[in-house]
Amino acid sequence: MGRKNTDKIVFHQIQVLDAGAKGVSVAKAPDGKVIFIPNVVPGDVVDVQTFKKRKAYYEGKAVKFHELSDYRVEPICEHFGVCGGCKWQNMKYSQQLVFKQNEVKNHLQRIGKIELPEFETILGSEKQFFYRNKMEFSFSNSRWLTEKEIGSTEDLGNRNALGFHIPKMWDKILDINKCHLQEDPSNAIRNEIRAFANEHNLAFFNPREHSGLLRTVMIRTVSTGEIMVLIQFFEENKEQRELILDNLYEKFTQITSLQYVVNGKPNDTIYDQNVILYKGRDYILEEMEGLKFSINAKSFYQTNSDQAYELYKITRDFADLTGNETVYDLYTGTGTIAQFVSKKAKKVIGVESVPEAIIDAKANAERNNITNCEFFVGDMKVVFNEAFIAQHGKPDVIITDPPRDGMHKDVVEQILKIAPKRVVYVSCNSATQARDLALMDEKYKVTRVRPVDMFPQTHHVENVVLLELR
Ligand SMILES: C[S@@+](CC[C@H](N)C(=O)[O-])C[C@H]1O[C@@H](n2cnc3c(N)ncnc32)[C@H](O)[C@@H]1O
Repeated sequence: MGRKNTDKIVFHQIQVLDAGAKGVSVAKAPDGKVIFIPNVVPGDVVDVQTFKKRKAYYEGKAVKFHELSDYRVEPICEHFGVCGGCKWQNMKYSQQLVFKQNEVKNHLQRIGKIELPEFETILGSEKQFFYRNKMEFSFSNSRWLTEKEIGSTEDLGNRNALGFHIPKMWDKILDINKCHLQEDPSNAIRNEIRAFANEHNLAFFNPREHSGLLRTVMIRTVSTGEIMVLIQFFEENKEQRELILDNLYEKFTQITSLQYVVNGKPNDTIYDQNVILYKGRDYILEEMEGLKFSINAKSFYQTNSDQAYELYKITRDFADLTGNETVYDLYTGTGTIAQFVSKKAKKVIGVESVPEAIIDAKANAERNNITNCEFFVGDMKVVFNEAFIAQHGKPDVIITDPPRDGMHKDVVEQILKIAPKRVVYVSCNSATQARDLALMDEKYKVTRVRPVDMFPQTHHVENVVLLELR
């Protein structure tokens, strides 16, 4: 069996047919099986060498291009193809949007199997690059080498890198010179940190031995111009830590929040770590329609701020509030949607499982002088029960924005039981959304659907659906 799976076959002159899941395109092999091929564009005609064979499909890579698709554009990033970040950068943006809209349609039709209205056209992002407000980079002393470097006889010097993980290689980091996802001075900050660390012989993380000083960098930017930088160290070394932090704060006077973490754990997540403020304040402030939202190092905030505003406007429009409604905002995060719709509602109840997010939600509501929002912590399937609803009032409208897994079936059941007249379902995974819509079909009719592109150059797509009581 092992042999079969690694057998390499070359299929000639294969036309790439469609954009598939996770940014990998699909084609058909001469035997009728599907072939998944990365780094090609629908419309290309290629020779494909397979590297994996399964019962129903192959995985392969393009080894020769015979024709190039009309949908192709020249990727602008020097790291394209190696970096796993922007897999669709070689495709025209207008075509990315077509594939995203099709994916949502396919999921809702094939998985949902429900009656659907005409889809509203996907809302594209005005910014197709430099749209992210948060980036995280990792240090490594074993930089990913290009084929040219591997073949070279020259001394490559140290192999320190600060950049992104190579897909599926936990210990290899691609050194990033310029990333096109976050506005400046993001690139300048990252490059300065790397140059300074190299100049002063500060040790980059060794992922195999688990040693070294420098582990990760997070940069958060907002529309108000404030900037947060957080450096994660693996070891405590006061002198070296202060050296690099002081240099950064001196060189980038725009930084309003400089923080650090010393994390000696095997994994580099900071969510269970003590974040220490070094300079400035421990949060940055984002603004949307006059509302201010504080974002701290651990806060969830939609990573494309401009499109988040568009997404929230569509959500508010679908909710069609008059000022008399009790609204529930399920999976409220830091309460942004709740506060965004609050002016048009009698009251809004937000529920979320992360306690820190609810602390932020309450602080933000107070900062914004909003008095008709209340926020509660807990696992949705546990908190959203009869007693909770009796206490806070039956909702007229529910807005729900669950994580990728969609809603727990008990949450769907509860919605069906209390049957608000309208449900606005915001989703970052239209496959699980389609599953949930099917469960709600007995009582709700889908009356509006509008996909929103929050992540140009990637296959990800957000979708907003309005459900009305039959
Ligand atoms: C897609 S985010 C939505 C956040 C928010 N609506 C916004 O736009 O910023 C989903 C949220 O659901 C929360 N969450 C995940 N699982 C949950 C659960 N079982 N119960 C309650 N909240 C949960 C996550 O912490 C996250 O804040």
